[in-house]
Amino acid sequence: MMQSWFSDAKLGIFIHYGIYAVDGIAESWSFYNGQVTYDEYMKQLDGFTASQYDPEAWADLFVRAGARYSVLTTKHHDGVALWDTQANDLSVVKKTPAARDLLTPWTEAIRSRGLKVGYYFSQLDWSHPDYATVRPARHREDADDQLNAYGYARRGKEDPARWEKFLRFHRAQLKELCTQFGKIDLLWFDGDWERDPEQFRMKELRDELHDMQPDVVLNSRMLGYGDYATPEQGQPVVAPNGPWEFCVTINDNWGYFKGDHNHKSVRQIVRICAECFGMGGNVLLDIGPHADGSLQPEQVDRLEGLGRWMHKHGEAIYGSRAGLPGGLFYGPSTLSADGKSLYLFFFDQPVDELVVRGVRGKVLWASIVGTGESLGHYRRGSADWNEVPGNLYIDFKDRQIDPDCTVIKLEFESPVETVLAAGRT
Ligand code: GLC
Repeated sequence: MMQSWFSDAKLGIFIHYGIYAVDGIAESWSFYNGQVTYDEYMKQLDGFTASQYDPEAWADLFVRAGARYSVLTTKHHDGVALWDTQANDLSVVKKTPAARDLLTPWTEAIRSRGLKVGYYFSQLDWSHPDYATVRPARHREDADDQLNAYGYARRGKEDPARWEKFLRFHRAQLKELCTQFGKIDLLWFDGDWERDPEQFRMKELRDELHDMQPDVVLNSRMLGYGDYATPEQGQPVVAPNGPWEFCVTINDNWGYFKGDHNHKSVRQIVRICAECFGMGGNVLLDIGPHADGSLQPEQVDRLEGLGRWMHKHGEAIYGSRAGLPGGLFYGPSTLSADGKSLYLFFFDQPVDELVVRGVRGKVLWASIVGTGESLGHYRRGSADWNEVPGNLYIDFKDRQIDPDCTVIKLEFESPVETVLAAGRT
């Protein structure tokens, strides 16, 4: 069920933590796609120590970054659970030198900082012997070599009884997650694409989850039964319908990946955030810890840098809603919940002033967010006989911009009204 905290929260930190960090290879996909064998992949279990694992320090960092929620991979497509699942033996507790439940301390650390708790859970499980036992209707007749054997039954070899066994396992794990760790604010599903909604019985699943966690928010990867859209890696150019969250990596991989130093700059990340917030969306920014639980220093730098900007401009971000339609101001913008404050985001040094078009209403006050400096402003081109409201000019001559993104606040007498019109012709 969608909850207001979600759309108000704006920034979440996504964490892909799993055995793939031992060799620094792609999470789960590396064996699915044949870059390593399954056995080579699973040998990483022996190297997963979590010896520096410090979820309290992670949570403190996420607070400094300005995040209001976090999502951890409780189980990725490889099937390795981070908690002490009783549904099978494939967990870091039973199969790795870490030998303990990593989910409880993380959940407690996140919750104790006032952040919302999100669990990533892969619907599919490429390790489970009963998983690749059916095909979705759209693939029923496909040749075997077109369908990966970790994901789908061989042609003519479908075994619905074994799929039922898998479903019991799937539900058992979700029941553990929903009943053994207290209140879960968000279930972030992934890996729904290899089956039909009927095969997973998604409609029923939604009800079962709500019985156990009445207030939980569900992301979209439930084959039509989720609460919000999750565009991934390619920044949306227009806002998806309804509530949404853009999930994106800091470098080019979800988990720790050896040799990937292609980290986005703080300024690039700030810009992505500003643009998503301006379209009413959240950003779920991903980090990939090393196998011992320590974080990649470049990623810590990015989170600290982003946090400086987020905290300075918090009033323009948290609880805000989408701002002006494109073209009325040459940058993203947000509106306060009461609609009376318009926040303008810009990245470059204006030569002298900023211009906003198509906005009706009286500006009471213009100022720079974070420093409070007030700015001169005037309107030009308005007339009571003309439906277009004229242009608003905000003086920015000789003013200092923020190194990442400057935000200006315009306080209006009444809620901002936009006018998309040609005017009297
Ligand atoms: C994709 C990938 C997965 C990753 C996820 C994050 O669906 O399968 O590896 O965890 O995106 O959104």
